[in-house]
Amino acid sequence: MQVASLGNKWRRSAGQWLAMTGAAAFLLAMVLVTAPSARSNAAETGPSLGVASCAGSTCHGRMTGDGVPVRQDEIAKWQEPSSLGGAHSRAYAVLSNTRSQTIARNLGIGDASSAPMCLGCHSSRAEASGGAFRYQLTDGVNCESCHGAASGWISSHYAGTLPEAQQHADNIRRGMRQLENPAVRAAVCLDCHFGSEGEGQFVTHRIMAAGHPRISFELDLFSTLQAHHNEDSDYIERKGRPDHVRMWAVGQAMAIERALSLFTSARGTEGVFPEFYFYDCHSCHRRIVDSDNANVTAVRNPGRPIPQGMPPFNDENMIMLSAAARVAAPALVSRFDEKARAFHAAMGSNRASATAAARELLAVTAEVRGALAAQSFGPNETRALANAIAGEAIRPRYTDYEGSVQAVMGIDTLLNAMVSGGQITVGAAAAVRADINRAYAAVRDPNTYRPRDFQTSLSSAVRAISAVR
Ligand code: HEC
Ligand code: HEC
Ligand code: HEC
Ligand code: HEC
Repeated sequence: MQVASLGNKWRRSAGQWLAMTGAAAFLLAMVLVTAPSARSNAAETGPSLGVASCAGSTCHGRMTGDGVPVRQDEIAKWQEPSSLGGAHSRAYAVLSNTRSQTIARNLGIGDASSAPMCLGCHSSRAEASGGAFRYQLTDGVNCESCHGAASGWISSHYAGTLPEAQQHADNIRRGMRQLENPAVRAAVCLDCHFGSEGEGQFVTHRIMAAGHPRISFELDLFSTLQAHHNEDSDYIERKGRPDHVRMWAVGQAMAIERALSLFTSARGTEGVFPEFYFYDCHSCHRRIVDSDNANVTAVRNPGRPIPQGMPPFNDENMIMLSAAARVAAPALVSRFDEKARAFHAAMGSNRASATAAARELLAVTAEVRGALAAQSFGPNETRALANAIAGEAIRPRYTDYEGSVQAVMGIDTLLNAMVSGGQITVGAAAAVRADINRAYAAVRDPNTYRPRDFQTSLSSAVRAISAVR
């Protein structure tokens, strides 16, 4: 089986995309060429009110923003018709497009735009009624899906009688989510950008086989792509200085924790099979070679000692966290790597051993996350991280498309952090961009992905970054 070209029905006019960064172009290409994940976060504090309640012209509904203290054009940004920044406002409309109709037909679920299987991620939850919840459909993914249901805080937030810094803390007490905190933010995004145990928040392999894009996510990069705020001086005063590298690192740990906890839950199996969503797609979707050199399509991977002929668990975030721990939590590296290998190996025995090993890996991952969340990442750490991602110890582990995509997104995030931290100039970064774009190109199409070529282009991107002073 080859993973089919799923996305060619979904197109936009080319002109709309001129201003995209390499990452945005890459994400679009993934949607066009093939396909790309999955909530348990919503312990809501009361009814959600809908976008209209945020839309006043003295609130978040201005046409252009001045950034004092917040932009106030957040709705306009969320509604951008032609950029990834506006993707959430379009999330419900997507369920009526041709591709969704195909997916729904293949799954036999009727109209996708009223199917609970899709609404958990492509629309917003509204208030609970009689134990169940409704969806706020046409908003798509609305403000409160991320910022938390507003009924608890909207009036005090609107009155704004407290000094700015105290106001935020007061909002949080009343149920606004503290999205500047990496772990809080990651938990919110992962509900839909990886999956959760909540209703309608999981893209099973069956949904992907019916035509759903594959889901790819990196917390800091995706935050930037949908950002509708300025990290200016008053933001820093209210919320602290953002550390994009920490955001990246904590995001990696949270993604592993989410994957492992879902794997150990009822989501972990489908029929008599393990849920294929969790595994390296290309371990199954490869050509069959029937010759005396039967092993030509697989590349040995030292990080995942699972018997040959069995699909390995997708370890994209484990690779990244191992690199991050080398720089920022060295005391935990060997235990983390050892538990990760034990998890992969246990997959070859039985489900009970695999879930037991998953719980041990989960525990050490949470420790690593704690260490990373307590760090600040300066110029030296950021460079060391780039080197670790492409370094000797990690490089041989890029044998899988997904892990490689994650590595390029990581390098992209580190470069952006160097620019925003003033460590390298915008001009110098532009020169390095070409190398990063080459690495993105090496993962544009999963069907032409070649591990060795990828490892080479990643190394040259990192050498280019290291050469800039
Ligand atoms: C776990 C959350 C989740 C569920 C459940 C889910 N999706 Fe998605 N869907 C996403 C995300 C996230 C993307 C964006 C993928 C990317 O680009 O990384 C997406 C993208 C898509 C796209 C491509 C985007 C476009 O503009 O055309 C279509 C079509 C789609 N989903 C349809 C569906 C349908 C139909 C269902 C139900 C059968 C469904 N989705 C269920 C999260 C989900
Ligand atoms: C996909 C998730 C998501 C959605 C949807 C979303 N936001 Fe945000 N928003 C964020 C994140 C993440 C931040 C940056 C972190 C922070 O400081 O809170 C942010 C920042 C903001 C800020 C700036 C806060 C500050 O201190 O400067 C405002 C105001 C805001 N959002 C309002 C809105 C409004 C209004 C909507 C709906 C139109 C909305 N957001 C939709 C995730 C989201
Ligand atoms: C309730 C579900 C939900 C939540 C929560 C959510 N997203 Fe999304 N997001 C989606 C869906 C569905 C799409 C695809 C919509 C489309 O194709 O128009 C999407 C698309 C995006 C895109 C555009 C790129 C792409 O893959 O299509 C970015 C960037 C993004 N989300 C970032 C975030 C970030 C960052 C967070 C957390 C702060 C977040 N999202 C939280 C459902 C969600
Ligand atoms: C354990 C093996 C296995 C893994 C891992 C796996 N798949 Fe599949 N895939 C299958 C099988 C079996 C089918 C069904 C083939 C059929 O219906 O004839 C399939 C079908 C598909 C199809 C429909 C293809 C077609 O030709 O109709 C797509 C698309 C797909 N898978 C995508 C993925 C993606 C994306 C991943 C990784 C997240 C993945 N698969 C992981 C075994 C796997």
